Amino acid sequence: MTDSGPKFKIFKFLKIIIISLLVTALLLFTVASIRTLSLDVNVGLKLARWEKTSNVSLVIDDHQREQLLAHFKEAIRIPTVSFSGEESNTSALLEFDRFLRKAFPTVFSSSLVRHELVANYSHLFWVQGLQSDLVPYMLLAHIDVVPASESDGWEAPPFSAKEIDGFIYGRGTIDDKGSLMGILQALEYLLIKGFAPRRGFYIGLGHDEEVSGYKGAMNIVRVLKQRGVQLSFVLDEGLAVLDGVISGLEGPAALIGISEKGSATVKLSVFMVPGHSSMPPRETSIGILAAAVKRLEDNPMPRLFGHGPERGTFEHLAHKVRGTSYLSIIAITFDSILHLFCCYAVIYSLVLERKPDTNAFVRTTTAVTMFNSGVKVNIIPSLAEAYVNLRIHSAQSLREVLDLIRSTVGDQRVKLELVDGFDPLPVSSMDETSFGYQIIKKTVLDMFPTVTVAPGICIGNTDSRHFKDLTNDIYRFAPIWFKPGDAQRFHGINERISKKNYEELVVFYFSLIKNCDIQKLPKPHSSIHEL
Ligand SMILES: *[C@@H]1O[C@H](CO)[C@@H](O)[C@H](O)[C@H]1NC(C)=O
Ligand SMILES: *[C@@H]1O[C@H](CO)[C@@H](O)[C@H](O)[C@H]1NC(C)=O
Ligand SMILES: *[C@@H]1O[C@H](CO)[C@@H](O)[C@H](O)[C@H]1NC(C)=O
Ligand SMILES: [Zn+2]
Repeated sequence: MTDSGPKFKIFKFLKIIIISLLVTALLLFTVASIRTLSLDVNVGLKLARWEKTSNVSLVIDDHQREQLLAHFKEAIRIPTVSFSGEESNTSALLEFDRFLRKAFPTVFSSSLVRHELVANYSHLFWVQGLQSDLVPYMLLAHIDVVPASESDGWEAPPFSAKEIDGFIYGRGTIDDKGSLMGILQALEYLLIKGFAPRRGFYIGLGHDEEVSGYKGAMNIVRVLKQRGVQLSFVLDEGLAVLDGVISGLEGPAALIGISEKGSATVKLSVFMVPGHSSMPPRETSIGILAAAVKRLEDNPMPRLFGHGPERGTFEHLAHKVRGTSYLSIIAITFDSILHLFCCYAVIYSLVLERKPDTNAFVRTTTAVTMFNSGVKVNIIPSLAEAYVNLRIHSAQSLREVLDLIRSTVGDQRVKLELVDGFDPLPVSSMDETSFGYQIIKKTVLDMFPTVTVAPGICIGNTDSRHFKDLTNDIYRFAPIWFKPGDAQRFHGINERISKKNYEELVVFYFSLIKNCDIQKLPKPHSSIHEL
């Protein structure tokens, strides 16, 4: 199944059409009778009676608005860049520390808050709860950003925080200073209003997330483990509110990340006797390595769509899909006859794998990122090396992926070495008894009633992966609005957030912290009947 010639493409396309027609025919018989399932995905606990926990509320006036935006812009202007695992702008990190103390004086002086530095530049806050029997939770965000250069084509200098048409431009506006500042600004407001939480919580701000969090997040975890801390849930950056991004989907969707793909970096090397280019051997280290790399590209990892939590995403979005696109045909099918899911997953995989961004949901992806050999035009080099970066699908393990690479390469002369890697993250809970998921969902729906909330998977990785021994439930989400084209701004040029959206982040964390004060979740069914 590796031929990608034009003949095969036509065949594949016909196959998709034929199978889709069969699916449609099948639907005509089944849809009418069973299209009643899961229409209440957004209702559930929303209609239930939630315990009222506090009378504190947030109305941002013009003066506060001006001030919170000024703080946010100041945060963007400090170039807290991580250049590599070893090199970060430490003077910017120190400046950021001073800035936080100045911007949020109540957070840093409240008797309810204990603040400490971890690994010199990361911050850990403990906000004490009145009821020590309530299991604490944790909010995460990171201080560092990836490099940015104005010459790449930014409309405004990347550390200027310049305002254009209601948007603040700058590196870090969405990744991840929006959340970081939103969390601390919300806490500042809560404390000023005299709020004292019933449920204690932690806030962790790592300083090296963009280079894996080995110093910041890992040391925060070490400190918490030493203290025997267990967390109800962790909320970190990751997914967002997608508006018009998923084709065929009616209305915006808030995707809450319930897992992350795993990752592996594998080094391939071939060592041969060096020689002069005037007497070349039949095969060189470069040729052998190139062939191995080509085999990896020609034989993608198996399709696993439907075997991981991505299934839940499509089930939850199914009833909002319109039109007659493949997505709608397949999605309506998910909605109605879930037990036949596997058949359709195969067809849908064929559609998804045609685009790089959706292919990432279908399988473990394989990307050759470095290829080095040779130093002189007339010398046959002895050594050729390549690096392959893989992002592991939730239904596969690091071990399985390495075994597959070995068999695909199938050449003893190519040495394989795992440079760095980890399994996909466990899947967090999302049912009606899942405290963190339901709190996040309620907070989103209170603010944005027309949004569909669904679980999702993060294709990239976050600091929260280091926290998996402290909790079973890690969520990756912030209510940042992504419209078509916005995803490219992430780690790209013209990263920006609207002023309104930043304010929404503050309100979101303010409400979330309040909502976490309930003792336990309401019971959905009995409450719905009362209405
Ligand atoms: C909210 O205010 C009402 C009326 O002043 C009071 O009875 C109630 O106890 C307050 N609730 C909380 C959670 O503080
Ligand atoms: C590091 O940050 C400081 C501000 O704290 C800034 O003046 C300096 O230009 C930055 N250095 C680099 C290499 O970006
Ligand atoms: C913190 O700073 C001290 C002194 O500069 C240094 O020795 C130490 O290695 C740093 N710790 C970390 C975790 O970076
Ligand atoms: Zn980030």
